[in-house]
Amino acid sequence: CGVIGYIGERATPEFFYNGLKRLEYRGYDSAGIAMMNSDGVFIQRAEGKLVNLQKKLELLPKSTKIGIGHTRWATHGKPTELNAHPHRSENMILLHNGIIENYKPLKEFLLNKGYKFHSETDTEVAAHLLNYEFKQNLNIQNPLERMKKSIFSLVSQIRGAFAFGILCTDVPDTLFVVKYGSPVVLGIGENENYMASGITALVDHTRQIIIMEDKEIAYLTSKDISIVDFEGKPVKRDPISISWSTSMLDKNGFDHYMLKEIHEQPQAVAQTINGRYDLDTGKINLKAYGINHINLKEINRIQIIACGTSYYAGCLARYFIEKFTGIPVETELASESRYRSPTVNSHTLSIAVSQSGETIDTLQAIKFAKENKAKTLAIINAPGSSIAHVCDDQSLIYAGPEVGVASTKAFSAQLASLILLGLAIAQEQKKLNTHKISEYIDELIKVPSFLEKVLMLSNGIKEISIKYYNLNSLLFIGRGHQWPVALEGALKLKELSYIHAEGYAAGELKHGPIALIDEDMSVVCLAPKDSYYEKTISNIEEIRARGGKILSVGTEGDKELQNISDDFIAIPECSEIILPFLTAVPMHLLAYWVAVRKGTDVDQPRNLAKSVTVE
Ligand code: G6P
Repeated sequence: CGVIGYIGERATPEFFYNGLKRLEYRGYDSAGIAMMNSDGVFIQRAEGKLVNLQKKLELLPKSTKIGIGHTRWATHGKPTELNAHPHRSENMILLHNGIIENYKPLKEFLLNKGYKFHSETDTEVAAHLLNYEFKQNLNIQNPLERMKKSIFSLVSQIRGAFAFGILCTDVPDTLFVVKYGSPVVLGIGENENYMASGITALVDHTRQIIIMEDKEIAYLTSKDISIVDFEGKPVKRDPISISWSTSMLDKNGFDHYMLKEIHEQPQAVAQTINGRYDLDTGKINLKAYGINHINLKEINRIQIIACGTSYYAGCLARYFIEKFTGIPVETELASESRYRSPTVNSHTLSIAVSQSGETIDTLQAIKFAKENKAKTLAIINAPGSSIAHVCDDQSLIYAGPEVGVASTKAFSAQLASLILLGLAIAQEQKKLNTHKISEYIDELIKVPSFLEKVLMLSNGIKEISIKYYNLNSLLFIGRGHQWPVALEGALKLKELSYIHAEGYAAGELKHGPIALIDEDMSVVCLAPKDSYYEKTISNIEEIRARGGKILSVGTEGDKELQNISDDFIAIPECSEIILPFLTAVPMHLLAYWVAVRKGTDVDQPRNLAKSVTVE
């Protein structure tokens, strides 16, 4: 979910709406705004996309001095207007990002106390409970102090993950913010202050940011921000300056953020590797990479933890890191990694790969690794994010803001970053000499210009997509480095176009999925000229023999592959380190153009959210 809060002179309906627009990628199944002034509290909510709320903005006051807004990704309760935030319980107006795990017994308790529930959400429980606590603290005369005490009582009773923005009619000059598990940033303005679930909502207004930490409560007035922990102890936190600009958040002439971000891959990779190595000496600069505390010499096992596309970047990097270092690398789906016995120790490097830096599954899994003594490294795109915060070291990928819900440029940048890390470990452990490292870096440096060439395939892929957009199901296969690319291709197609797609290791096809092949099945085959080429070609022949249609991605001039394919996408000849960057681009473009033809919502596919902050 996306949340925004403001206190100052400029609280207009449009202000909240525009802030929510910036956060819409975090969830978009319903939205709401609450504004408060001496005439009372005004709440407007709407089901569906934000535009539905836009129609109701005129029902809100033209301007107030305080308000909150929310765009939702449903967890408890359908995405209806009644379930949309903010929720109100008499004097308390509250919005929430996260999940309250013990809401059932609390709801029971509140029902017994006579509270009436209007929604199916866990959030309404928090609103009523806060109201209930406020009533219990009648002995405290000062409403601000009474409110503070009530919030302490609230947070001591709820479990789960929560970021709250709270208005209280008894304390109209304070915006209350609570953070536990879900992300919150505070923005500092002149005679105005902000809260939001992500920096992107604030870049239109301020560059001065305070990142809240877990178990903290902030009191915002127009002049001041004070923070205390859940025990009431004051917290001093210096603001940080952010460099993201508003232009980075626009579509720049492209029809969709996704297409823009696909085309930003060359820059994303270049910015990720630039300044982190010295070609003359063949040395990777650990500090510039972000390794300040971890001793890479002591690592004898590597664990990569991630979700979604970031996980596939990890699966791909594994091949390279193992090759460079000889150290065993495991890739772990963050949502599963905690359910195995801990096999990490102080010689394990656990790497959390996350574009947003906020994915709660990844956050919990890396915390678990840290508790079990692993050295932890965050590879993230969002400075100051929660995952970065818990890790021993953090390395930014510098891909710039990614707004399209389906990740593209972050994937390439993550891969580049992980390859560089593999080389850094090989350097520290003397597994590769400086000459060899320089050779590999030389190859990495070429990736952006090769990507530029591959991006020129966009129109050709747009044409090809005519044949695929009305299919019901597709398979994607690849071997070696191309296997994770196949998985990524299938993920992208299903999330964007809602067409069923599965990625398989090419060699695994004969152990089951080949039963699906007939004249109606199309298979996307990744078969560039690499060390596994011959074997992949045999797998493609097996598909052909059973009547399957073949869309292949291969090396320019590969007539053999072209002849056995129904459609052929040619990528330039290059080294194996560059190849997966190049084959991933047609996967992203194919999913994009198929989705555009189908007319699905490319930047905000149904049921998805960009930052998933619930487990
Ligand atoms: C969501 C997004 C995916 C993304 C995944 C992991 O599911 O829709 O595009 O790959 O989260 O996100 P992260 O921010 O941790 O990389």
